[in-house]
Amino acid sequence: ADNLRIALAGVGTVGAGVVRLLEENGSLIAKRAGRTIEVVAVSARDRAKDRGVDLSAYDWEDDMTAFAARGDVDVVVELVGGSDGPALALARKALENGKSLVTANKAMVAHHGLELAQLAEQSGAALRYEAAVAGGIPAIKGLGEGAAANRIERIYGILNGTCNYILSEMESTGRDFADVLAEAQALGYAEADPTFDIEGVDAAHKLSILAALGFGTRLDFASVDTSGISRIRAADIAQADALGYVIRLIGLADVSGSEESLQLFQRVAPYLVAKDHPLAGVSGPTNAVVCEGNFSGRLLFEGAGAGDGPTASAVVADLIDIARGSTPPPFSIPVSALEETAPADPGH
Ligand code: NAP
Ligand code: HSE
Repeated sequence: ADNLRIALAGVGTVGAGVVRLLEENGSLIAKRAGRTIEVVAVSARDRAKDRGVDLSAYDWEDDMTAFAARGDVDVVVELVGGSDGPALALARKALENGKSLVTANKAMVAHHGLELAQLAEQSGAALRYEAAVAGGIPAIKGLGEGAAANRIERIYGILNGTCNYILSEMESTGRDFADVLAEAQALGYAEADPTFDIEGVDAAHKLSILAALGFGTRLDFASVDTSGISRIRAADIAQADALGYVIRLIGLADVSGSEESLQLFQRVAPYLVAKDHPLAGVSGPTNAVVCEGNFSGRLLFEGAGAGDGPTASAVVADLIDIARGSTPPPFSIPVSALEETAPADPGH
């Protein structure tokens, strides 16, 4: 079969990870996908920057929107970030032109996911975003495909690796908040603007995506009640410990009411978690997603929530699906059907 030809927009932490992964695992991926995944072009801001990977074999585009018009590109992989701006312009153009889109950009999916899904449906292209939620954990596949037979009424978990790293490091070593945050940034876990991490916004992006997927409701980022960990001090962690708890930033979503008038509740906040609860043992840049299905029972997905390797693993899994021609609707339900349903009422 013909190669699946991809263009990489953004060669930072995640983009460089994707290049490394495709180089190292390329032949086994070709066997599993039934064809080779071939990088044809790359783009970033600074052509001269050393990214620790050799890009000399690929075309360099200064303007990444050019990918959308190239006849030799089947899939655009957007690893730039930002809910609007160049990432969104590229995503729209690529899908309008019938190119499939793989993205790790939860901010863009949370704000514009339905519009992008509609563009994908109209042009017959695929829209995949496994890496946007919970890094290396196949949470989107887990909820959207693995648990697709279930009525899901509750989803919760640890959705931000940076915050979990900060809280668990402060807890185990007594280190200072700012010091651990700087380390999380250096390790490539944090967003370009780390206030998105520590104020809970990144976790809220992810929660709204999981809720839409799991409950079959329309994406509703605006109604997530969001607070972060920036006001947590060492004294809070010590007090929680004395009471038998740890502090974790938790995202929690549930639906109640009848199918016709669902009430949606979405919250991101620091919670006290009892030390014997499975989420209390989740340390470092790890994420955990729990969903409760009416036939599956309680499912727990746990693994690395941030970082180049785990995130690249999720990006390339999406590429393998596209190479195999396995592309379910981006939000499990076709957008046309979602549009007919009343939006869930953000209750509580
Ligand atoms: P990053 O290291 O900052 O990389 C961003 C890349 O985009 C860089 O190569 C940068 O170019 C390029 N870029 C930024 N603005 C651009 C513009 N206006 N035009 C062209 N190129 C531009 O970020 P990252 O950590 O890889 O994250 C990328 C995406 O993945 C984001 O949506 C993020 O939320 C998501 N994500 C990240 C992780 C993680 O653990 N890091 C995990 C899951 C999802 P230069 O290199 O030349 O500056
Ligand atoms: N900044 C994000 C986090 C990256 O720390 O979880 C993974 O989405």
